[in-house]
Amino acid sequence: MTFLITGATGRTSAGVVRHLRAAGADVRALVRDREKAEKAFADLDGVEILDGAFDDGDLLARAFDGVEAALLAVGSSPDQIRLEQALIDGAAKARLPHLVKLSSIGAGPDSALLVGRLHAEIESHLAASGLPHTLLRPASFSNNLLMAAAPVAAAHSWAGAAPTGRVSYIDIRDLSEATALVLRDPALQGGIHDWTGPDAYTAPEVAELLSRILGHAVSYREVSAQERRSALAALGTPEWFVELRVSLETGAESGQIGAVTTALRELLGREPRTVEEFLTENAALFGAR
Ligand SMILES: NC(=O)c1ccc[n+]([C@@H]2O[C@H](COP(=O)([O-])OP(=O)(O)OC[C@H]3O[C@@H](n4cnc5c(N)ncnc54)[C@H](OP(=O)(O)O)[C@@H]3O)[C@@H](O)[C@H]2O)c1
Repeated sequence: MTFLITGATGRTSAGVVRHLRAAGADVRALVRDREKAEKAFADLDGVEILDGAFDDGDLLARAFDGVEAALLAVGSSPDQIRLEQALIDGAAKARLPHLVKLSSIGAGPDSALLVGRLHAEIESHLAASGLPHTLLRPASFSNNLLMAAAPVAAAHSWAGAAPTGRVSYIDIRDLSEATALVLRDPALQGGIHDWTGPDAYTAPEVAELLSRILGHAVSYREVSAQERRSALAALGTPEWFVELRVSLETGAESGQIGAVTTALRELLGREPRTVEEFLTENAALFGAR
């Protein structure tokens, strides 16, 4: 059985490749950067690497040939809609038996999140393609909290526009494991999986957790969305990514990304990793000595 993993060098996808190989499945990795993929999977056999542009019809015909199921997971960029839609068209042309799309919590045409609106557009293209598919809508990745690491390490504080909004989190390692299970098991396919870890936090509550883990006071400083935009732009962040980042905070305030579900725990058959575990493992990045 062969599975195609698109964007296989990505944070989620690379873990999926490893779980599939551990289960004995053959993996075809579609990437834009062959050298990066060869390094990432140097210790694995059974991974075939295909590289090139994700809108190259000939490449896609080779990529989807003989594949049982594929994971659609291109990283966030202004090109994501175009690339994922081209991949969906390639899959439909090849009559792929099943496509698993990595979408996002809060996906919807009226989402407060830029990523939510972007994924809604891709989801609707997928629905129109007629391809059998499954939608994965994971919560915010715990890794997003690393955006606070440098300011906390430097000044025991970080700033944002989400003083009260609750955010549910998922550890990418759990997401990768669960995604591989869905790819391999047709009984888990179809419909929507809303996956989160066991808990949700406001930013001030994350500050309390960090204070406990680091052994000194850490604070969250509330600023307006406009102040956040200006601060990110001043760091040289491209406009599109500024909007993506700020809408994660305004989306939290709108209450759209704080729900916790038990679906991931039920699927994995164990408690998913917590935010506290993630922050403790990464305490050095937040300045722990
Ligand atoms: N971050 C969150 O909190 C969160 C929450 C829920 C859902 N999601 C969704 O999860 C998905 C995957 O996220 P991720 O963090 O695992 O992805 P990622 O690591 O950022 O990237 C995944 C892959 O996409 C490739 N890629 C990015 N831009 C590309 C381009 N223009 N052309 C070709 N390849 C490109 C990357 O290639 P390289 O390795 O060469 O860079 C990588 O292989 C995204 O759709 C995101 O919206 C994210």
